Amino acid sequence: MPPTDTDAATKLRVGVPRETRKGETRVALTPDVIRQLSRKPFEVIVERGAGEMAGFTDEAFEAVGATLIDSAKGVYDEATVILKIQRPTDDEIALLSEGQTLIALLQPLSHQENVVKLAEQKVTALSMDAIPRITRAQSMDVLSSMSTCGGYMAVLLAASHLPKFFPLLMTAAGTIPPAKVLVLGAGVAGLQAIATAKRLGAQVEAFDTRSVVKEQVQSLGATFIDIDLEEDAEAAGGYAKELAEDHIKKEQEAVHNHALKSDVVITTALVPGRRAPILIKEDTVKEMQPGSVILDMAGEMGGNCEVTTPGETTVVHGVTIMSPFDLPTKMPFHASQMYAKNLATLLEHLSPEGEIIFNMEDEITKGVVLTRDGEVLHGPTLEWMKEKEGAS
Ligand code: NAI
Repeated sequence: MPPTDTDAATKLRVGVPRETRKGETRVALTPDVIRQLSRKPFEVIVERGAGEMAGFTDEAFEAVGATLIDSAKGVYDEATVILKIQRPTDDEIALLSEGQTLIALLQPLSHQENVVKLAEQKVTALSMDAIPRITRAQSMDVLSSMSTCGGYMAVLLAASHLPKFFPLLMTAAGTIPPAKVLVLGAGVAGLQAIATAKRLGAQVEAFDTRSVVKEQVQSLGATFIDIDLEEDAEAAGGYAKELAEDHIKKEQEAVHNHALKSDVVITTALVPGRRAPILIKEDTVKEMQPGSVILDMAGEMGGNCEVTTPGETTVVHGVTIMSPFDLPTKMPFHASQMYAKNLATLLEHLSPEGEIIFNMEDEITKGVVLTRDGEVLHGPTLEWMKEKEGAS
């Protein structure tokens, strides 16, 4: 039955503009997820071409009931809620209107000025990367989804830069031993990297300062390296805490010995709110086998290798060191699909009846809402504003 005016009035109009930041290939909603949303009180508007780079055609969006609009401005004018991947540019912020809601990866811990601009524009801004990491919110956890894409892609990239096979091969031209892969940090990205390297036939060893992951590493068929650090670095929420200096030194020494035997090292070690720990010193790189590859996934937080150039690929002492920032954009189909699914789950949580309810007593809502009614609600941004005010 076609929707009546009454239906339309109770439906929440969500809009998906084309992403404009350079290198972004993903789209915030995908046709499969829209099909699921349109059975509920949502109406979806998509900018023409928004899914092109991720492999989703305009026809695929139309087939699931989305309305296609030619310009970004049209989407911003028509929708109550704007759904994006990347934080908006100044031009995009100018298209947002008072009272409109924006949901995107706003990176509020490193882009506070953007949060302030959104508050000034009187936009209600929700950040997908601020979803609390609690069991109830697991199906909305975009950070885990993107780390899964990143861990997988990291191994494929490293493999394509290694001048060797990954699997054991027995050929008429001789036997080729399997590549040796070392994974440092076995959180979401690290575990996915281990699984991917194993599937490609490599021999994998891994280490993490949280001893709880030992069994997970072993269940994937990898060897867990035992480094006796006399402390378990597990902190609240399952994250790691920073190691004491002498323990980091002990870890660097152990890593040195394993890195020299490895063809590929994938590093993913992060401590929330801190510079990434340096686990591979330049001296280690100097002694590694020429042609080996380090893929440093911690580049945005300074890198796990002393000689990483964040965002770049370099060759240092004969070792290829890669530090890409955009791994999920290299597999945009599934990265978009996972993002869309997480986003739709959040939307359904916030808006079960077709209107967003901002229940600030709810831990998930409280976690994601950064600005509302012209005010910044995000604690770290408020602190940043105070510091800035104090400095001027
Ligand atoms: P992350 O990206 O912050 O860190 C990656 C890994 O680096 C972590 O496993 C950490 O222990 C490790 N690390 C830190 N310092 C290290 C060092 N010096 N040497 C070696 N490794 C080091 O963490 P991620 O992957 O986002 O999540 C970590 C954990 O958080 C998960 O394994 C899980 O227990 C928990 N989590 C819970 C969720 C939920 O309940 N919704 C969702 C996602 C994660």
